[in-house]
Amino acid sequence: MLNCELGMGKTFDIGLERLTGRSEFSIGRSIPTKNEGSAIPAQASPEAAELGAVRGALRGTFFLETFGCQMNDHDSEKVAGVLLSRGYQQVESPQSASLILYNTCSIREKAAQKVFSRLGEFGLRQNEGRIIGVLGCVAQQEGEEIFRRAPWVSLVCGSASYSKLPELLAQVEAGNQRVTGLDTDTDETFETPVTRRDNPWRAYLTIIEGCDKACSYCVVPYTRGPERSRASDSVLREVKQLAELGYSEVQLLGQTVNSYADPTARKMRFSELLLAVADEPGIKRVRFTTSHPRDFSQDIVDAIDAQPKLCNHVHLPVQSGSTRVLQTMQRTYTREEYLERIAMIRGAKRTISITTDIIVGFPGETEADLGETLSLLDIVKYDAMFSFKYSPRPHTPSVRMSDAIPEEEKSRRLAVLQEKQREIQAVRHSAMVGQRFELIVSGKSRRENQWSGHTSCHRVINFSSQEQALLGKYVQVQVTGATPNSLVGEQAL
Ligand code: 5AD
Ligand code: SF4
Repeated sequence: MLNCELGMGKTFDIGLERLTGRSEFSIGRSIPTKNEGSAIPAQASPEAAELGAVRGALRGTFFLETFGCQMNDHDSEKVAGVLLSRGYQQVESPQSASLILYNTCSIREKAAQKVFSRLGEFGLRQNEGRIIGVLGCVAQQEGEEIFRRAPWVSLVCGSASYSKLPELLAQVEAGNQRVTGLDTDTDETFETPVTRRDNPWRAYLTIIEGCDKACSYCVVPYTRGPERSRASDSVLREVKQLAELGYSEVQLLGQTVNSYADPTARKMRFSELLLAVADEPGIKRVRFTTSHPRDFSQDIVDAIDAQPKLCNHVHLPVQSGSTRVLQTMQRTYTREEYLERIAMIRGAKRTISITTDIIVGFPGETEADLGETLSLLDIVKYDAMFSFKYSPRPHTPSVRMSDAIPEEEKSRRLAVLQEKQREIQAVRHSAMVGQRFELIVSGKSRRENQWSGHTSCHRVINFSSQEQALLGKYVQVQVTGATPNSLVGEQAL
């Protein structure tokens, strides 16, 4: 699974700053990702222009807001690529757009509600002829119900139908008021001739879409459909192009990225694909997320040991430290089997940082189960943790389970868990003071000479430097101070 919400991992950048849908960077690049993409002129029909005054005046402009995980962020980059190829221009506010798209997340109820409040802001009166579309997980989950709740929406499209997006957009442009793409029965992956990338140094690449794992609390198998892996030669071609364009870091994405199964005759294993991506000259760092414990094998650790370009970070969600709860969650591993995977990672020659996701308050979770999770934290000593209160989701098996934990009790358990992780991080962070890390500089503070960047192990360090124009460069930074949630340093010359 990919992360979508706040936890104790604030020094870890797993895409949290992108919850708002705004990029960390103002620079964006549109790049061809497969064969060279040529710009196709806008195909709006004359009827479309007549649909409303605003839509006419602002014709050919789109606003796209993204909620949720990196997978959604990257889907949005590709959706933006599709629109740019059709002659649209991206704008910064819904008011200046003729086409407004929300790429949505439904992993927890709060996330799903956000889009309905956005849609409310664009009720019938304010929309003044604009085309409004709902994409992603809420689109898939709610389907045509969205038209009933918000009749001013005219496009509802789940991620498994994105390969049909050009056709669907053509229908919307022709004035069709109820266009849907809701099939999940597909073996296609979403590949676009053009991707509009938000981050000028780090490029996301989805290598596996959907999920076959069926965890009992999770809506993703329903909203994103079955697992489909992208052909290894197509992935490697895109990596080559990215390197030629100056990207130095690539992050391979998938809900269960290490379940990758190359559909070509080459049948590359996931670890072989990692090494092949790292072989590309120009690529300095390769990340991957999210790994599923069941498919996490020794060859991945061996690859990280063999190739320093593979980042020394593994995100390995455990969800609970109690085997009993893991069974009701249908996670397909026990506490002991999970700890074997941790021992495998800790056995590497390089120090590999490990982060996790945990859900508290799953139906039937007892105080003793929570105790097991707390003791797991003590054993593993995660570098960061993302923790969530269980949120019942439609279309999931756990929604029918008895023994729901009251909301207040879930909050109490979350607070206990987070306090434990805070203590662990306080110790880990203070041990880092005095150490030196290589950072890619990814942010500039408003304060003079203050920058921030990421380590290979995916920590964010805020640091000072007298140098100018550091964005995108790799620098050495010495850690000079730490709190449980932040690290500060100075550029080491
Ligand atoms: N309730 C709470 N958290 C959930 N997650 C997935 N589904 C739910 C749910 N129904 C969490 C898992 C996953 C992370 C991205 O979101 O911990 O790893
Ligand atoms: Fe991750 Fe399980 Fe959801 Fe699949 S079903 S996306 S493995 S939490």
